[in-house]
Amino acid sequence: MRLEFAIAVILLATVTGSAQYTRKTVVAHRGASAYAPEHTLAAYKLAIEMGADYVEQDLAVTRDGILICLHDASLERTTNVEELFPDRVSTQTIEGKTRKAWLANDFTLAEIKRLDAGSWFDKKFSGEKVPTFDEAIALIRGKAGIFPELKTPEIYAGRNVNFEDMVAAALDKNGLRGPKADPKTPVILQTFGKETARNLAKMKIGVPVVWLVEYENRPKTQEEVRGWKGIVQGFGPTKRIVFENPDFVKWAHADGMTVTPYTFRESDVLKSGFRNVNEEMAHFLYRLGVDAVFTDNPDKFPRK
Ligand code: G3P
Ligand code: CA
Repeated sequence: MRLEFAIAVILLATVTGSAQYTRKTVVAHRGASAYAPEHTLAAYKLAIEMGADYVEQDLAVTRDGILICLHDASLERTTNVEELFPDRVSTQTIEGKTRKAWLANDFTLAEIKRLDAGSWFDKKFSGEKVPTFDEAIALIRGKAGIFPELKTPEIYAGRNVNFEDMVAAALDKNGLRGPKADPKTPVILQTFGKETARNLAKMKIGVPVVWLVEYENRPKTQEEVRGWKGIVQGFGPTKRIVFENPDFVKWAHADGMTVTPYTFRESDVLKSGFRNVNEEMAHFLYRLGVDAVFTDNPDKFPRK
């Protein structure tokens, strides 16, 4: 590495919190999900067209062990599973709430591929399918990075699923980690699960990992933030954490960790004087100093 280049990389890392991002970065949350049904190839394609640096996937595992892109642990909110498989409902406790659900892990990929994942959003997206992780990668690779989340890992306890190993194998199969990783398709993993984040660190997953932080779990001191050094490379806090405590960004950057708050959407701007989501993202990026944002509206990203 030439000396000037090495110095530039170090300076950039100091400014952005980590070499993980090379500029202020837009992550398309569930694709361009303000305009197309979340986690469909239509939403991912639109995100790329809107200039997303990364496209987010929430990952789930089918009954036959295939990674698919789905936000909820169950299928009924974003597909017509109830209509096609009325008898396959069960009572599940998901994220602490017990309810009737069509759990994705109870369905094979062939069954899930029969579902319509677009009509719930708008009839014009009728026929969109739940994509596999491999299909998402094939669409996005070379055009943007991917930002997969290991979603609701607690669902798989006792179900013979090793989520972390499955994600590692998918990255290997697609040439997305290791010394020969495709530089045009950077990967950042994310999880709300503390244990999952620690497992990824222990197995030396080889790509940056972001720990997602709910308001109730937020680190309240610099020491608590520092405790994550060496385990994760960044934080994904709900945006209220950073808004109320801008020092959170300084604390993370002091230890070389990034900050990528969620979720910026035109339909849910913080009620603090922002006229629109563009203004809200600009405040977080250029005044509070966050490195990147998760947004449903990648077209509104305030690029400088
Ligand atoms: O992963 C960042 C953000 O997506 C977290 O919230 O519920 O949309 O996955 P959720
Ligand atoms: Ca997510």
